[in-house]
Amino acid sequence: MIKNFKQIEQTVCDITNKISIESNKNDLQIIKQQVIGRNGILTKAFTELRNLSKETKIDVAKKLNNLRDHFLKKYEEIITKYKNNTLKTKIDTTIPSLSFHGVLHPFSNIIADIKRIMFAMGFNYEEGPSIENEYYNFEALNISSNHSSRDSHDTFYLYHTEQKAKKLLRTHTTSVQIRALESEKNKINGNTSLRIFSIGDVYRRDDDATHAPMFHQFEGLLISQDTSIAELKGYITRFLVSFFEVNYLPIRFRPHYFPFTEPSIEVDIMCYKENDKLKVGKCSNGNWMEILGAGMISRNILDRAGYDNVNGFAFGMGIERLAMLKLGIQNLHDFVGSSYPWIMQYGV
Ligand code: DAH
Repeated sequence: MIKNFKQIEQTVCDITNKISIESNKNDLQIIKQQVIGRNGILTKAFTELRNLSKETKIDVAKKLNNLRDHFLKKYEEIITKYKNNTLKTKIDTTIPSLSFHGVLHPFSNIIADIKRIMFAMGFNYEEGPSIENEYYNFEALNISSNHSSRDSHDTFYLYHTEQKAKKLLRTHTTSVQIRALESEKNKINGNTSLRIFSIGDVYRRDDDATHAPMFHQFEGLLISQDTSIAELKGYITRFLVSFFEVNYLPIRFRPHYFPFTEPSIEVDIMCYKENDKLKVGKCSNGNWMEILGAGMISRNILDRAGYDNVNGFAFGMGIERLAMLKLGIQNLHDFVGSSYPWIMQYGV
């Protein structure tokens, strides 16, 4: 025992030193058991005192008491702190915050830009469902089931045999036009005009370097008594110039064909390559790039929706292409990959 005293002292001191404000209540309980519990080191040492001679007993007992006092003092100190609740983690509000704030995905910014410009031109935002039926996606737009242009839409059909109209993932946001024409019908009369735009996801069975099975489109529609293709050209020009924020943007209007507009046009803008990146604007070695489709809404579509004595124009374009051209993004698939360095480079 006497021989062992040094060892006992060392162990108790080690254990006592382990008690700290980091110890939780469970740790403290275990520590207490180890030292002064029923089989604790000190408890055992006290019982062994009886084997010692009277003189040594007094001496060792004194030392053991000191050890126990030392242990209890530390132990009680921490327990009291617990009781007074002063051990809770304190929040130091003076520590400077991390400098990383995150950024918006470039797509969010592009959509915000489109909305800002369209709202400024007096258009209202309208949404349509991503799961459409054949009527809104095709038939109401003069694309009957045997129409050749259905091939180019590479549609994802959702087969439900009981349903009369087949459901599908919309292949373009032009379907929103028909829904808007139906829902807004009674709101337009006299001098008022209907101005709607929509942004949304569209789906086609296409997947390569420049196509993805899911992408986004932006669609505009204006109905009024006296609108014309001249006005359509004006709105498109204003939109493109505001969106690309360039001083001078060469724009080309080409005749085209869409089943739902008559006449139909496609619109190109001039682009050029700089350091392998495509840029928008005038350049001596620039090339035309198709950016959108548009036209005057076919008479039979307006008639079917019950719009007499008014005209309308519409336009639609892919948002990924707009974003790639504006931000110099080369790979379409990066939009959904969204790696951290990519987001930090293109997000704002
Ligand atoms: N829906 C067409 C497409 O996906 C784009 C389009 C062309 C929309 C002409 C229109 C339009 O509103 O008038 O390719």
